Amino acid sequence: GEREGERIDYVFKVVVIGDSAVGKSQILSRFTKNEFCFDSKSTIGVEFQTRTVTINSKLIKAQIWDTAGQERYRAVTSAYYRGALGAMLVYDITKRQTFDHVARWVEELRAHADSSIVIMLIGNKSDLADLRAVPTEHAVEFAEDQGLFFSETSALRGDNVDSAFLKLLEEIY
Ligand code: GTP
Ligand code: MG
Repeated sequence: GEREGERIDYVFKVVVIGDSAVGKSQILSRFTKNEFCFDSKSTIGVEFQTRTVTINSKLIKAQIWDTAGQERYRAVTSAYYRGALGAMLVYDITKRQTFDHVARWVEELRAHADSSIVIMLIGNKSDLADLRAVPTEHAVEFAEDQGLFFSETSALRGDNVDSAFLKLLEEIY
């Protein structure tokens, strides 16, 4: 958690993007509060949360921005991406369409974010293995092709959430 009174060495802005209902907000609350909410509501506008971690003996405050996947509720794009050093691009492994849209989200990042932004592709809801619609190999291939890092997570169980964020923050650092 937050360690009051300690000196922060760096603040890293990270944005979370992807289609509606893929679990962006739940991944964020798992990482920052170790919480999961079964009846979470769609995000409207922008919210952000922070968590401070130690990387190479430096205190890094991750300031993580979350907006709506739904176009009509989304934040102003340029302001959302301004200053972002990392992006978590999330799809739902049980919803093929959310993976098909990943290319569009990458285009939006390339258009609006800094060209050096570190991108982590996240296949969320790995706990729903029986409903899987996106093979891991397809996502691995896409990520390699586009130069993205990749992980499958479960915000519900907490699987790989910390490791994915820590990997992203380490790569930024
Ligand atoms: P928008 O704010 O509309 O863009 O959606 P979002 O991407 O923030 O999705 P949200 O985090 O609100 O989660 C959508 C739904 O998926 C909720 O009902 C969550 O409980 C559920 N959900 C999120 N993560 C997981 C997960 O890892 N596993 C399972 N089984 N359900 C999840
Ligand atoms: Mg949300």
